[in-house]
Amino acid sequence: MLHCLDAQQFDREFLDELGQLTDSIRSISEDKAGSDWLATLLSHRRAMLYFVQPSTRTFLSFLSACQILGMMTAEVRDPRTSSEVKGESELDTVRTFSSYCDVIIMRYPRAGFAHEVAQMLDQNSRPVPVINGGSGKDQHPTQALLDVYTLMSSLAPVGGIDGKSIAFVGDLLRGRTVRSLSCLLTRYRDVRQFFVAPDSLQIGVDILAYLDEHNVSYELSDKLDGILSQVDAVYMTRLQDEWDDPGAAGSGYDVNKYSLNRENSRNLKPHAAIMHPLPRRHEIPAYFDADPRAMYWEQARNGMWTRAALLARVFGVHEEILSR
Ligand code: NCD
Repeated sequence: MLHCLDAQQFDREFLDELGQLTDSIRSISEDKAGSDWLATLLSHRRAMLYFVQPSTRTFLSFLSACQILGMMTAEVRDPRTSSEVKGESELDTVRTFSSYCDVIIMRYPRAGFAHEVAQMLDQNSRPVPVINGGSGKDQHPTQALLDVYTLMSSLAPVGGIDGKSIAFVGDLLRGRTVRSLSCLLTRYRDVRQFFVAPDSLQIGVDILAYLDEHNVSYELSDKLDGILSQVDAVYMTRLQDEWDDPGAAGSGYDVNKYSLNRENSRNLKPHAAIMHPLPRRHEIPAYFDADPRAMYWEQARNGMWTRAALLARVFGVHEEILSR
């Protein structure tokens, strides 16, 4: 594997291995000797974090993942501080970064740009992997990896992800985390997917076509009623209104219809995982944080471990970690 661009590039074997690698990194990190050892593995490598769209968790968890493996890092988060303001093209800008690093981890508002960067860098004699940390409204493959890891561990007591049901709730049209996770879940056997959103924000037809291709059974609904009792995980998302046209009167989105509350969660299974990529607004009231089924803060922490595992894999130090 060189680049990490789309969730669809990963197969089941990769997911199982990455899960094991993530577990190993977590447990090796538990003591100082282990952490010190991990930090020697990639101390000769440099990462460029190019994040020109807002990010808290993805940015910080990648930065922490680099630190776990001892990598040096540089960051550009504000395009006003780079030569793009002097009229340099997007691709030239990133090509320049690539001269000073061994991997580019990037978040960009335009879907497809990470792919263009990867293609451009493939022409270079020195390989520089590109990791997509969120591309427009399209993909967020590393979030899907950490979500699958979280599902693997929270559903382990009931036999794992195979044969389970998940509901995605909220702005599914513009929520890239849902799009990536929905695709990745096709790697598991008989996983049923429910998409709960107003018609105007329902999941894209491209994702449904992908599910059809993989014979995945799914259901679309504009209300939560009757769905929560059927699922083993519920994946809540916020309204992605930063994509609304400026000056738009608002979408008329009724957040209460796409939120959890004491009433509708009464029928949620005792083992069901409550997930959210975060940041949340009102979809999950803070009183759920004390519910043992709430997994969203685990997801945030798992992001760091999963991303460390991914970097270890990209740079080929995974065998060393697994055999320690
Ligand atoms: C998400 C994102 O940026 O796509 N957050 C994340 O990376 N954990 C979700 C969001 O912004 O709603």
